[in-house]
Amino acid sequence: MNINQLNKTVTIFADTGENIWTDPYVAQQMLAAHLNEQADGATRNKSFVEKSLKWLNEEFPAVDYPKILDLGCGPGIYAEKFLRAGYQVTGLDFSRTSIDYARQSAEEKGLEIDYICADYLMADWQEGRYDLIFMIYCDLGVLSHEGRKLILQKAAQALNPGGKLIFDVFTPEKYKEFTPTQTWQIEENSFWSAEPCLHLQRSKQYGRTYLDAHHLLYEQNQKTFYIWETVFTPEEVIEELRAEGFTKIEVYSNLAGDLWEADSDTACFVSAIK
Ligand SMILES: C[S@@+](CC[C@H](N)C(=O)[O-])C[C@H]1O[C@@H](n2cnc3c(N)ncnc32)[C@H](O)[C@@H]1O
Repeated sequence: MNINQLNKTVTIFADTGENIWTDPYVAQQMLAAHLNEQADGATRNKSFVEKSLKWLNEEFPAVDYPKILDLGCGPGIYAEKFLRAGYQVTGLDFSRTSIDYARQSAEEKGLEIDYICADYLMADWQEGRYDLIFMIYCDLGVLSHEGRKLILQKAAQALNPGGKLIFDVFTPEKYKEFTPTQTWQIEENSFWSAEPCLHLQRSKQYGRTYLDAHHLLYEQNQKTFYIWETVFTPEEVIEELRAEGFTKIEVYSNLAGDLWEADSDTACFVSAIK
């Protein structure tokens, strides 16, 4: 990588082909983050997850909403708890590392969860099949406008009549203190790399979308990860939901059902077609 490559403007939602969830080394670090119950790393902390599941089980009980599709299920932290609460669960994730872990964990515990290792943008979700479709922990915001549109269209088709799409997003509150950064470090055995590398990091704002870029430079090769995240006001999400036919839309502050408050850094949406 030369200075011109580093200095060129990155097009919004550019994809380097390297991804923190699927890179064999970084995906192991993400799995560890999922399994850390104290932190809000890749999965929310344990007490939030429990509060969230309590609300979901009360509001959308398995007896009324038996079939769940958990998009971006990770290692199955929610999926296992949904199954134990009486739902039939399909978990879909493109991280081989997470799905392997999830399958092994379910097998050891005797839980029958249908795990699929696939990209949710490409996979066939099967029409009219689910009563609840989840996308938990603000994953819709990592997608481009076209990606989000596709997810909402696929969800509209995959829901049973009366079924609900439930997801959360980050709001502009999350980045209200944002300042662009550029840093470098030489590191090894770090979150990003087992081998010694020069790690260049840069963050940048594109309107409501933020880029967190990581370049790992090795003697012979390099890796570049772009992590994109878009934040939304509730009105912006409601407009995107309405465009795909969702009419009944409820807004909460988070996936634990707390009432919507304008200073919340997340917003949660429960929506149905009719
Ligand atoms: C922030 S984590 C949330 C995981 C899980 N929902 C939770 O809260 O424990 C996002 C998850 O989405 C998965 N993911 C991201 N993009 C994906 C895609 N295009 N197709 C399938 N899974 C994807 C990642 O592998 C990761 O497990």
